[in-house]
Amino acid sequence: MRIVVLVSGTGSNLQAIIDAVAAGELDVQIAAVGADRKGTYGVERSAAAGLETFVVDFKDYTVRSEWNAALTAKVLSYAPDLVVSSGFMRIVDEHFIATFENRYINTHPALLPAFPGAHGVRDALAYGVKVTGCTVHYADTGVDTGPIIAQEAVTVEPDDTEEALHERIKVVERRLLVQTLKDLAAARKAPVA
Ligand code: GAR
Repeated sequence: MRIVVLVSGTGSNLQAIIDAVAAGELDVQIAAVGADRKGTYGVERSAAAGLETFVVDFKDYTVRSEWNAALTAKVLSYAPDLVVSSGFMRIVDEHFIATFENRYINTHPALLPAFPGAHGVRDALAYGVKVTGCTVHYADTGVDTGPIIAQEAVTVEPDDTEEALHERIKVVERRLLVQTLKDLAAARKAPVA
């Protein structure tokens, strides 16, 4: 299974994928890692790992649909079986979703449909939930919407900070994302009955 991973920042979830592949635990080929802006650590660490990288910088486009078209074409050029939004903080349009129908997944640090958006951890804390978690789902044109593939809960501790809680969620999230990729890769290989 060839994958393209999209990031906007640190890429610690991406690193978990890279590590699992390197350890022989995850049978996928990382065709490329792409970002929506220059200078991300996610792209830097991918290049250091010898992976193909690209940037389709949102700031280089005045019209959003042109950025979407450029991103779609770039990702398509790697012929991925699956595209993984891993801390990729941009909404893509119908053209991208249609091109990668049932092949575009996202990871999010909350139990969707609760607390979508860029501040899922902060919003869950502010609401006062006692349990939150992470979700891997097929993505559509909404903000963290689409059919859920896997979820796992994380308990909120008294006096939790956003940073501390997000770090604990990410520990679970990395494992859940790698497991989901394993499951999707295995399903592709399974003989049709
Ligand atoms: C992850 O927790 C991911 O779920 C979140 O950004 C973080 C990226 O961390 N994504 C969203 O909030 C999407 N709405 P990473 O760059 O260290 O993998």
